[in-house]
Amino acid sequence: MTRNPATAGLPEGVEVVAGDLTDARTLRPAFNDVTAAHLINFGGDYRPLRNGQQIADLLRETGVGKVTLLSGWQEGSLEPAVRASTLQWTYLNPVQFMANFLSDWGEPLRTTGVVREPYGDRKSPPIHESDIAAVAATVLTQDGHTGQAYHLTGPEILTPREMIRHLTEVTGRDLRFEELTPDQTRQQWSTRAKRPNLSLFRAFTQIPGVSDTDVVEIYLKMAGASREYSTTLTDNVEKIIGRPPRTFAQWAAEHARHFQPQDAA
Ligand SMILES: NC(=O)c1ccc[n+]([C@@H]2O[C@H](COP(=O)([O-])OP(=O)(O)OC[C@H]3O[C@@H](n4cnc5c(N)ncnc54)[C@H](OP(=O)(O)O)[C@@H]3O)[C@@H](O)[C@H]2O)c1
Repeated sequence: MTRNPATAGLPEGVEVVAGDLTDARTLRPAFNDVTAAHLINFGGDYRPLRNGQQIADLLRETGVGKVTLLSGWQEGSLEPAVRASTLQWTYLNPVQFMANFLSDWGEPLRTTGVVREPYGDRKSPPIHESDIAAVAATVLTQDGHTGQAYHLTGPEILTPREMIRHLTEVTGRDLRFEELTPDQTRQQWSTRAKRPNLSLFRAFTQIPGVSDTDVVEIYLKMAGASREYSTTLTDNVEKIIGRPPRTFAQWAAEHARHFQPQDAA
């Protein structure tokens, strides 16, 4: 399901259905004849869905019995509605998709070869988005996962410097991480126009009451703190799909062309 079938770019053989999670009326045709569904908890640009109850009701009404729900750091209206329903639900909680680095670093690496951010040694266990999909497909087609919340991680804990090194290797370019101090960050990211296009900013601006300038302080606080959640690996992916999760090196090799100067993606 996509909001825009014309631009979805899904592979041949995939049945594409139009639907918008923010408008439950559009979902009825998408849920027709469907017995299991993979859901996200927001309605675009990290805005938490407000119509979770309507979606949960429609899922039951149309006969969808089982759902996986990709949930983030902020709970919206869909999670409690799904929990309170009779649906067989499973939460999937990844920390950070590897795909984020396409939108976060693609443009600066293509144009300048440099990522300028604070905390180059901060740690996270990024997960390959295809592994999340593999987990969802397994959970939706096999028994034994109802009511579980799976914290999903990749196979290793990495820092931005280490990930840039992987991207350097696969592109053959001299890519660099240049660390900003917190004060440099505040100065250089003082206006929206000067800030990099980080996916976390999109998320922060959806928090009620957070101003455009608060986002930098929130970012510094989050990126500067070493949280247990982002420094712990889990073996949930391997347990569920029967093989280890893919590495960042593999992801980087698959996406190398997006970090080359001539690539416009
Ligand atoms: N990115 C992360 O690191 C991360 C970490 C933890 C959890 N999550 C969770 O993962 C989920 C997806 O996040 P993402 O980062 O992949 O977001 P994203 O890159 O913005 O992807 C959004 C996807 O969701 C679809 N979508 C967005 N709004 C929609 C709507 N109103 N109706 C139908 N489809 C819609 C889009 O499809 P179309 O444009 O084709 O409609 C697109 O495929 C969210 O539930 C989020 O909480 C993400």
